[in-house]
Amino acid sequence: MAKKIKVGLAGTRAQSIIQGLRADPDVEIAAICDLNEDTLNHMADAYNIPHRYRVFEDMADSDLDAIHIATPMQCHVPQALYALEAGKHVMSEVTAGVTMDELFWLCEAVERSGKIYMYAENYCYTPEVQLVKSLVDRGMFGDPYYAVGMYLHNCSELIEYPNGKSSWRKYWQFGKRGNFYPTHSLGPVMTWLENERIREIATFAPAGCYNDRGVRQDDGTTTMCYTDSGKVVQIRVDCTSNRPHDATHYHLQGTKGAYQAAGALSSGPAIAIRTEEDPNGDQHWRPLFDFAEYLPDRYKIATDSEKNAGHGGGDFFIVDDFIQSIRENKEPYYNVYKACEWTAVGLLSELSLTNGSRMIEIPNFRKGMPREEQIIKI
Ligand SMILES: NC(=O)c1ccc[n+]([C@@H]2O[C@H](COP(=O)([O-])OP(=O)(O)OC[C@H]3O[C@@H](n4cnc5c(N)ncnc54)[C@H](O)[C@@H]3O)[C@@H](O)[C@H]2O)c1
Repeated sequence: MAKKIKVGLAGTRAQSIIQGLRADPDVEIAAICDLNEDTLNHMADAYNIPHRYRVFEDMADSDLDAIHIATPMQCHVPQALYALEAGKHVMSEVTAGVTMDELFWLCEAVERSGKIYMYAENYCYTPEVQLVKSLVDRGMFGDPYYAVGMYLHNCSELIEYPNGKSSWRKYWQFGKRGNFYPTHSLGPVMTWLENERIREIATFAPAGCYNDRGVRQDDGTTTMCYTDSGKVVQIRVDCTSNRPHDATHYHLQGTKGAYQAAGALSSGPAIAIRTEEDPNGDQHWRPLFDFAEYLPDRYKIATDSEKNAGHGGGDFFIVDDFIQSIRENKEPYYNVYKACEWTAVGLLSELSLTNGSRMIEIPNFRKGMPREEQIIKI
């Protein structure tokens, strides 16, 4: 039997993948790290994790194969760089980093290390998103040319921890202008527009402050993105407005039909698509899961323990993809370049918004990207 892959977890958010890791017989959760000692002990005891660390670097220097980084956003790149240099594979929570330089460092560090870096964009792994991808791949939408992703989640209470102290989100999220948290919106739609790259963006937001807390973050920031072949992606991130949660609000428009995610008000994800049996199918909505036969096989045959990891198996498959990439020494689909491109849309949206919504080019993140291209053109 192959040696188990020893994984270390950093930050409490790692809880979201613990069931997925435990469902994989090839994995051992060997260590956990959190600055907060109470949290650390609580998690280590609850999940029976043998080694506990308060200092990330101490865990990264220990005898592990891989680390899942689920600490605050501004820790992701410094910790990923340290872990890669220490010879560990990395799976990182969203977003990838908080400055453009960090993104350039990250790509170079991944390439230099030869280790696996996977971006844990969990919204890409829901059965709905994977089913739509399967339909796109089969050509059932024709040529998709317009997509929308919205993350509408008033979470401004997270500015403070329950003890009243400011959380990291006060500065790195609610203190930022632009689409500070873009990848739950971009990840699924760019998975559908698989061969496209975001080339240029412009960002818009209502002038003035409409939120109750008076935070710097604009309310209802929208970024319009052009891809290399001229397709349009619209993303909206709104974490401050007074409204109910609607974080998985997606649309896709192709030449043969359209998809609309469930949204807060409708009864379920819907599709309007032409088929041989229904040539006018693009004129009326039907439940997306009428097409469930096209779900990827692994979602159809998921075991109970895989499904119980969460999100219809999605929280298992994200872990499984990371572990398979390590086993096969193969770049994961959600690689460092996708992570950086999607994160850069958020970082550069700040520059666009604060410069009269001007168009900003997104660097072409790819293997061996020359240093001369690691700049921001305005
Ligand atoms: N994918 C998703 O759906 C999703 C959902 C929520 C949060 N997130 C992401 O997860 C990350 C964490 O968010 P959260 O809501 O759990 O934050 P949190 O503030 O609730 O928890 C962060 C934890 O990290 C610990 N920590 C802080 N700095 C550390 C360090 N240097 N070394 C070790 N531990 C450290 C803190 O003690 C705390 O326990 C963020 O990047 C966030 O964007 C992703």
